[in-house]
Amino acid sequence: MLPIKKGCVGRRVVCHACTGLSKRLLGLKMHGSDAARPLKSRRSGPLRGTAAIPGDKSISHRALILGALTVGETRITGLLEAEDVLNTAQAMRAFGAQVVRGAAGEWMVHGTGVGGWAEPENVLDFGNSGTGSRLVMGAMATTAITAVFTGDASLRGRPMARVLDPLQLFGATYTSRVGGLMPVTLSGAELSICVDHKVEVASAQVKSAMLLASLNAPGRSRIEQGELTRDHTEKMLAAFGAKISVEALPHGEAIHVTGEVELVPCTVDVPRDPSSAAFALVAALIVPGSDVRIPSVLLNPRRAGLVQTLIEMGADIVVENERESGGEKIGDLSVRASTLKGIDVPPERAPSMIDEYPILAVAAAFAEGRTVMHGVEELRVKESDRLSAITAGLKANGLVTAETRNSLTVEGRGLGGVPGGARVATHLDHRIAMSFLTMGLASKNPVSVDDISMIATSFPEFEKLMRDLGGDFQVVNA
Ligand code: S3P
Repeated sequence: MLPIKKGCVGRRVVCHACTGLSKRLLGLKMHGSDAARPLKSRRSGPLRGTAAIPGDKSISHRALILGALTVGETRITGLLEAEDVLNTAQAMRAFGAQVVRGAAGEWMVHGTGVGGWAEPENVLDFGNSGTGSRLVMGAMATTAITAVFTGDASLRGRPMARVLDPLQLFGATYTSRVGGLMPVTLSGAELSICVDHKVEVASAQVKSAMLLASLNAPGRSRIEQGELTRDHTEKMLAAFGAKISVEALPHGEAIHVTGEVELVPCTVDVPRDPSSAAFALVAALIVPGSDVRIPSVLLNPRRAGLVQTLIEMGADIVVENERESGGEKIGDLSVRASTLKGIDVPPERAPSMIDEYPILAVAAAFAEGRTVMHGVEELRVKESDRLSAITAGLKANGLVTAETRNSLTVEGRGLGGVPGGARVATHLDHRIAMSFLTMGLASKNPVSVDDISMIATSFPEFEKLMRDLGGDFQVVNA
């Protein structure tokens, strides 16, 4: 194991000695320090070419965290170098891991092992990232250290009790602002115990936090979930040598993890993010004459709900070269502009496309007829209340839409029939910004969003990649 460079621990800015690069040098403006940056998109000619989508955000977070829980070198290729993930990298340093950047997307992590994390010297700032913060809460909950978690205005408004309360079953304790809001101080269990717990929300973050906490609890923990949420943590834990098994249940599944088992270092090849690919995919469908290729995208069935839904709507999407990479299914997508029809999207599909509803709503606006999305109440607790943000954005742009507590209805106007013309409030939500900019590429009038700085949290290359395909964007005044 490499010696830990104490001087790097707990600093806000990425340490040059560790990475050789700061966030600024990585080309990533930290949104927290920037004034709002509006952007406008305009009706574009056919989109053509190949879209090289960056690495998957969920897998990137997990690779860094598991690397930090492993003694020895974990090598990661294709890591998403976006703000959310860089904040997780920084947190891993604060817990004592060495995290070093090599070539673009290539990172090395030397961890301190399960139960080996040191206490951070300073507050951990996770920026906009629910995934980074909640997974790290789980990973430290069974180690006898204390850490303070905070984030930006969006993250400080999101519910943390959903993860902190079940972590108390292991013996962890916490204090928070009223309502389980950040800043949160979490103290890991002095003497942790294994748990048998059913996760009541359809959240992969909560499930994953419980699985990560189980790693340092003696005995075998059993974590049950009614919905089949993304299973990257399970897959990666198995690859890192954890003792983990999954039992199918009539409704959902139970995951068994044996604690106090050492993890072994791994090489993780991060596939390209389907949640980011979604914007190029829908743009190609709604801009007449488009023909776009999106290679090597993650096609884990628990992440592929959008592709399935768009195909049901009549999308011309061809999936080719399906193969495995790093234990995950990937494939190449070819997509052509299509006439779409409105459909009913069933509630059981929600976990497999939970981040894709904003862009699905845009596709639905360009479809013929009504689309109803059922079982989408989790959208209320994302980076913004996405149900409200989507309906407000659609209405401002001339669409008829309605939300209930857990559903969203969009009356489609057909290809070429979406009025557009409005400025959309993004509420610090990267996916609301990217979705409405995608809408403007095909609506009659331009669409602008009030701030694009948040896009750097997940997809810093978005504007350039869409411009390279032929998307027409224009910088506007705040
Ligand atoms: C994620 C799980 C989902 C998703 C988020 C990433 C993960 O959140 O919205 O973007 O990597 O586990 P929930 O667990 O809150 O559904």
